[in-house]
Amino acid sequence: MTNEADRSPEAPPFWSELKLPSLLYTEGVQKLHAAIESEWDPLLRSACQTAAGRALWKHVTNDMLAELLAGETQLTRFYQKIQKDCFNQAREVSGVILAVRTLWFDSKLEAAVSLLNNQEVLQVVLLGAGMDTRAYRLNCLSNSHVFEVDFPQVLQMKASLLQEATVPRVEQQVMEMKAKMLSRVEADIRGHDWLEKLKTSGFVPEKNTVWILEGILYYLSSCDAIHVLKTIAAYSTLTKTVVLADFMNKPSTMLSNSTFQFYCDWPDELLPSLGFSDVKLSQIGDPDAQFGLLNDPLNMFNKLRTIPRSVDVDPENGTPCCRLYLVQATGSPSRTS
Ligand SMILES: C[S@@+](CC[C@H](N)C(=O)[O-])C[C@H]1O[C@@H](n2cnc3c(N)ncnc32)[C@H](O)[C@@H]1O
Repeated sequence: MTNEADRSPEAPPFWSELKLPSLLYTEGVQKLHAAIESEWDPLLRSACQTAAGRALWKHVTNDMLAELLAGETQLTRFYQKIQKDCFNQAREVSGVILAVRTLWFDSKLEAAVSLLNNQEVLQVVLLGAGMDTRAYRLNCLSNSHVFEVDFPQVLQMKASLLQEATVPRVEQQVMEMKAKMLSRVEADIRGHDWLEKLKTSGFVPEKNTVWILEGILYYLSSCDAIHVLKTIAAYSTLTKTVVLADFMNKPSTMLSNSTFQFYCDWPDELLPSLGFSDVKLSQIGDPDAQFGLLNDPLNMFNKLRTIPRSVDVDPENGTPCCRLYLVQATGSPSRTS
C-alpha cells in the first residue's frame, strides 16, 4: 500500500470534474472537431490526443491552448483514463509521461536557445509539430524563427482552430505569439521534398538551429526515421545544431495494437554513428526528467530505472520493460569536419 504522501502530483481540482471552456462549444470549433473525428486517421488524430494530455496536465505544462486544439472528444477520453487511475489509486496517472516529456523538451529547448543564440535569429524546427504550442508558450523563443512541419490537414486545422480563439468573446482566450516568427510547413517528412519546402519557408541551413523531434520518430519506418536523422546530421556540418528527440525502445513498440514502427534501444550509440556529438540520454524519472511528478519510488518509471537497459522483461513480474528515452545531441562544423 502506498503512503498517500508519496503520491505526486496532488490531483488538481479540475480532475474531479471535467469542465471545458465555452470556446469548445462554439459552432466553429465544434464543426472543426467534428471533421477531425470523422475524417482523420489515427496518425493525424495523435496530434489531438497529445494535446489532450497536455491540456489535462495544464497545471504543469502551462499549455492554455491545448484544450481548444485537443477537442471535446479527445479530452473526454483522456479524462476518463485519468479518473480511472485516480479511482484505482494508480501509481502513475495517465498523461504523466506526456507532462514530463513536455517539460523536458521545454527545459532543454530553453538551454539550447541560450547556448546557440547570437545576434542572429535562431531557427527552431519542429518535425511532426502537431498541436504543439511552444511558439505561443515559451518566452525564450522571442528571438527565434519557429518552423512547424506536419501534414497539410494538421497544420490547416490547427490554424483554423487558433483563428477561432482570436474571435472576440466574453470569455476571451489569451493567445499571444511568443516566437519572433512562425512558419507552418506542410510536408510529409517521409518524402524527399520537405527540406526544400522548409527552405522555401525561410529556413537557412547555415543558421544555428534546434531540431525538435517529439513524439514523431516511432511513427516512421526505420528507414524513414534514419533518413530524417541523417538529413539533420548533414546540416549539422554547416552550423551549430542541437537535436532533441524521444525514442521508444523495442518493447514499447511491441505492445498489442501498437502502430509504432521505428524503435531504438541505444540512441546514445545510434546518434554518434550518424555524426552527432555530446549525446545525453535521460529516462523518464531521471533527475532531469521528473519535475517533481514521479516521487513515488515504486512507480513504473522509477522501477524501470533500476533494471539494466539491456533487459527487455522485468525479471520480477514478467512485464515488458517499455522505455521512452529523451535524448539531446549536438552537431557543429568543427566537430564533424
Ligand atoms: C503524437 S503527435 C506529436 C505532435 C507534437 N510533436 C506534440 O508533441 O504534440 C505526432 C505528429 O506527427 C505527425 N506526423 C506523423 N508522421 C508524419 C510525417 N510522415 N510527416 C509529417 N508529420 C508527421 C502527425 O501528423 C502528428 O501531428
